[in-house]
Amino acid sequence: MKKKGNNQLIKIENFLDRNEKLEKNTRTYEKIMFIYSTAMKELELKIETIQKEFKIFYDYDLIDHIQTRIKTEESTIKKMQDKNLELTYKDMIENINDIAGIRIICPLKKDIFAIRDLLKNIPGIIIEKEKDYVTTPKKSGYSSYHMILNVPIILSQKMLYVKVEIQIRTMAMDFWASLEHKFKYKPKKELAKSKSKELLAYAKIINKLDNKMMMLNKEN
Ligand code: GTP
Ligand code: MG
Repeated sequence: MKKKGNNQLIKIENFLDRNEKLEKNTRTYEKIMFIYSTAMKELELKIETIQKEFKIFYDYDLIDHIQTRIKTEESTIKKMQDKNLELTYKDMIENINDIAGIRIICPLKKDIFAIRDLLKNIPGIIIEKEKDYVTTPKKSGYSSYHMILNVPIILSQKMLYVKVEIQIRTMAMDFWASLEHKFKYKPKKELAKSKSKELLAYAKIINKLDNKMMMLNKEN
């Protein structure tokens, strides 16, 4: 990942005192979040450009909407504790892939793969991980395409690679995932088996619906 010259491309953990403890509201935390939100905004702009290009040039709504979020400090710490990680910035950066997250919601299932391919073609971006829960949904019924991208950002002294999590899904998949997440996480307890089963059945109905919509689109 290293490049010669003044503008080195480096990982952001090399930007830090390697073992500094993660504490609330510190200057280090503020600096790291600035880096993550910069990467997220730069990538969001690129995705908006793709969205607008398809609308203006091809009169096609490839992307319905884009959502972005930075994980809260509480949620990051909780995830690190759940994963038995040391509460250091280094462990946070290396192991928590969804500090910066972008969700892309599109009308049709085939759009997901078109968006994936367009993201892969953005110069400078490195794909670290991909999970295709569209072709193979999770046991819960959850369906989306996940990517972890390394996005370069240019600061005055350094160029840094920053991890951004992307979730690409249809409007129907988003409807399911949002409600299922609410049911699952709001009462902070496991879903009853019967409810999980019902949700899995609805996920299958939604998958059928997505396929039908794609067929209808083809017929036109
Ligand atoms: P982390 O969960 O981030 O530690 O990594 P992982 O590799 O286990 O994640 P995965 O790619 O499976 O999922 C990451 C994200 O996808 C989660 O944070 C959720 O936003 C979403 N997700 C995964 N599974 C489900 C699910 O069953 N229901 C819902 N609603 N969302 C899910
Ligand atoms: Mg997450």
